[in-house]
Amino acid sequence: MRVLVTGGAGYVGSVVAAQLLAAGHDVLVADDLSTGHRDAVPRGAEFAQLGITELGDRMRSWRPDAVIHFAAKSIVAESVREPAAYWRNNVIGTVALLDAMRSADVLRIVFSSSAAVYGEAAETPIVETAPARPTSPYGATKLAIDLALADYARAFEMSAVSLRYFNVAGALLSSEGHFGERHVNETHLIPLALRAVTGQIDKLSLFGTDYPTPDGTCIRDYVHVVDLGIAHLRALDLGGPGEHTVVNLGSGSGYSVREVLAAVEGVTGTAVPVTEAPRRPGDPATLVASNAAAATLLGWRPERDLTAMVADAWGFVRPG
Ligand code: UFG
Repeated sequence: MRVLVTGGAGYVGSVVAAQLLAAGHDVLVADDLSTGHRDAVPRGAEFAQLGITELGDRMRSWRPDAVIHFAAKSIVAESVREPAAYWRNNVIGTVALLDAMRSADVLRIVFSSSAAVYGEAAETPIVETAPARPTSPYGATKLAIDLALADYARAFEMSAVSLRYFNVAGALLSSEGHFGERHVNETHLIPLALRAVTGQIDKLSLFGTDYPTPDGTCIRDYVHVVDLGIAHLRALDLGGPGEHTVVNLGSGSGYSVREVLAAVEGVTGTAVPVTEAPRRPGDPATLVASNAAAATLLGWRPERDLTAMVADAWGFVRPG
């Protein structure tokens, strides 16, 4: 298959681009490099330094069979400060991408949605039909795109899949290269804990120790980026014209922040320097996915555990 990967110079996008190539697909990565890295584009992929509103001509000439759409702004706190940038880039940008797809007769899309669409879920584990009440502009833009995909699928006979990720971690360490998380503006727990271990930051701020959870810290559902990527490849064959399918991608079980830090200490053999800090605004106490739909629709179950996620993230960033 010929697959256009938007945001393919970013974390999850680069992993999926590498997995697509390894599976024998042709890949065109489109990324404006606003947060991605040119050297994260796997060897063997074509590359276009273009934003998602600029892809019309390239789409018509390259003629993909499908688009996997990762390109987005994705920092929750930033989205609260700068909602306009999120609505413009994520939502208006994606509508432009969908219109370019229509005009090039490219009718299949797999979209990188998020558990952030659910907000504070009333019931755990979270099923796809749970009420979507995002607590940040970031989550609201992902939900808006999911809704747009449903409308476009119905009206224009597109096949659309929204994959709602829970907490993605780990890296792809393969003979073809290493692909992982290296955000300049890093906000995620595991890479920050590893930076605390290597001394790149003094201490990891532990946001909130008074949540209604067994150890008082937030519980999240972590999924290895390699497992997550496998679901994307399978999603290329899911659904048909006129259908929009929503699938959660998580492990179905949760770990507290303290449990994650214990895993980081176990893998690195080093204590993580921690300072206890107030809650981070907008963080729900618990987010755990039901992955029953992923099992039924994609035949997918994650296979890599928390230790593997931390070990591979460590393998990606470890000095020397
Ligand atoms: N945390 C800390 N200290 C840190 C960073 C995080 O204590 O320095 C805690 C958070 O409070 C949270 C947990 O670690 O309890 C995980 O935080 P992350 O920032 O790694 O990830 P989030 O759970 O905040 O992820 C959220 C949503 C996703 C969304 C993602 C986008 O759960 O659905 O933000 O970045 F996609």
